[in-house]
Amino acid sequence: MREALLCTKNPHKVVEIQQILPMFRWVTLEEVGFSLEIPEEGNTFEENATQKVIFVKKHLSSSLLAVSDDSGLEVDALNGRPGVHSARYLGNDRDYTRKCLGLLSELGDTPFEKRTARFVCVVAVFLSSGDIFTFRGTCEGRIGYEMRGSGGFGFDPIFLPEDYHYEKSLAELSPEEKNAISHRGRAFRAFHQWVEQEGKRYGLV
Ligand code: IMP
Repeated sequence: MREALLCTKNPHKVVEIQQILPMFRWVTLEEVGFSLEIPEEGNTFEENATQKVIFVKKHLSSSLLAVSDDSGLEVDALNGRPGVHSARYLGNDRDYTRKCLGLLSELGDTPFEKRTARFVCVVAVFLSSGDIFTFRGTCEGRIGYEMRGSGGFGFDPIFLPEDYHYEKSLAELSPEEKNAISHRGRAFRAFHQWVEQEGKRYGLV
């Protein structure tokens, strides 16, 4: 089985990505003993994903194919916030009940048609040639008025995907249902399709 290094410390992402692309064995940073804080200072998801994979490659001697992702939630009524700053919205902690409630309260009674939002995920791949390729996936939806469901992570309980006609939150979907429509599912499947088509040319298969 092909092995690839997943440059993230978010355990939820590791679980989702392993489910989305089981044809890879995803080696985690923990497994290779990488404990440095990875910087995330860019203004776009592409910049951040690229910065993460470059940083890991620079500080780790490994021949594994290195893959990173950067993701976040863009809320139109908040001019795209929290966007690339989603992981640090209302603080660096992982208390997502507080963060979801904070976002709901920022939106107040904004009418439903104006609560449009999207999750974005960009995957960056560092090739042995030194080239870096990125793949983007998005999931369109709206922010609800309350937290619903117990699956997923982060802002899932307040995000109502368009694919389910805004009737369910992402946290009410099974992992398979979420992965089939999610930003991360779409970005990683685009990466996989590219490996299938171009992998030979870049020495990946
Ligand atoms: P990063 O990609 O590690 O910078 O973190 C992205 C942040 O965006 C997460 O910490 C969550 O706040 C949010 N986020 C990204 N993807 C998801 C998702 O699938 N569900 C819910 N929240 C997400």
